[in-house]
Amino acid sequence: MSSSGDFWAVILAAGSGTRLAASVGGVKKQYLNWKGMPLFWHSATTFSRIPRIKGLVFVFPPSDIDKMKERVDELNSSCSLGLTYKVVSGGERRQDSVFNGLKDLPATCSHVLIHDSARPFASASMISSIIDELDKGASGVVPAVKVTDTIKTVNGNTITGTPDRSDLRAVQTPQGFPLHLIRKAHEISDGEGWNVTDDASMLEMMGESVVVCQGEESNIKITNPEDLAKLEETKMYVPCVGWGYDVHRYGSGRPMVLGGIPIPGGPEVVAHSDGDVLYHALADAILGLFGGGDIGLHFPDTDAALENMSSGIIVMEALSKAEAEGIKIVHADLTVIAQIPKLAPYREQIRKNVASVMGLPQSRVNVKATTEEKLGFTGEKKGIKAVATVTGVRLADVDG
Ligand code: CTP
Ligand code: MG
Repeated sequence: MSSSGDFWAVILAAGSGTRLAASVGGVKKQYLNWKGMPLFWHSATTFSRIPRIKGLVFVFPPSDIDKMKERVDELNSSCSLGLTYKVVSGGERRQDSVFNGLKDLPATCSHVLIHDSARPFASASMISSIIDELDKGASGVVPAVKVTDTIKTVNGNTITGTPDRSDLRAVQTPQGFPLHLIRKAHEISDGEGWNVTDDASMLEMMGESVVVCQGEESNIKITNPEDLAKLEETKMYVPCVGWGYDVHRYGSGRPMVLGGIPIPGGPEVVAHSDGDVLYHALADAILGLFGGGDIGLHFPDTDAALENMSSGIIVMEALSKAEAEGIKIVHADLTVIAQIPKLAPYREQIRKNVASVMGLPQSRVNVKATTEEKLGFTGEKKGIKAVATVTGVRLADVDG
């Protein structure tokens, strides 16, 4: 069964991060930069991946509110959430910030998930499981993990008890509720002067039954200086592959060149540049390593300056774009497909030249030639085609 109203999330970012402040030059922890964006934005992007979530309310310190309205708009324009959002001021205590956030939810909202922006690692799948429990009619759903330490109650430094560990859970956020219930809880709390550290506590105090679902060990709250290690980015080299394909028609035009090597006696090709089909496939494969489009985009054949231009320049240009993207090319595998001419005599020469242009050892470049058994346009000697696969590596984040 799925609930009829909309699900929204309240992202709490109105704290002052006092326990961490001294280690981060006084920056409020929700604004710390991680993977190129402020910490609070990571939770926003996680929620935006869940189709059931229709909107977000961001809660920021009142003193930052104008600045943060602009910042959220700016972040959303460079990396759109695809969601409605509001930006509101928080209060002195966490629960005051929650209450302010709840007040701004629209009439169409039936359920709300309340999340600490200081927990940037919460996964979309865990959030979806909270939504599933709410769909089944729960009055409150809290992600929880078993505790591994033995917990003691103390009075001063004297132990007063050892609760049974199997009954204990450490709870996390987001915590999900039907909106009418959590609003009512906050209204009562306001009147009664309750002081709580999480949202579920209020429903428990009202006698409502709140359930736990499986939380995540990784869903920690960045709280103390030692937690900053969790935000350190570990990078490793990951592979990337680009593929290119090109065709040229035989006909009166340019003398045949393949991989920068003239092929004397080969049919002429019709082309705008020097018609080097192998270099064109190679350049497209290099651009494919990093989402660089194709050579038509960078070297349009309407450009008079490219008339009869050596395709080696196109390959060099593609290589420098790949390098600027931080890619190191490690291998190229090239195949020419043609019925005529016979290419075996030129294969090694092409291989050596391509390796030298690409700055690769010859062992990292492979050149193959094949016919299509007299089939198709190459078989009918109407043209020539080439395919290229280029492999590279680039540095990327490896953590969640
Ligand atoms: N929070 C909030 N409004 C408050 C207090 C806290 O929105 N008045 C938010 C924080 O921004 C954080 C979450 O509630 O995302 C959990 O609180 P906590 O970890 O205690 O953060 P801070 O209160 O900012 O940190 P500290 O207690 O160290 O000052
Ligand atoms: Mg706090």
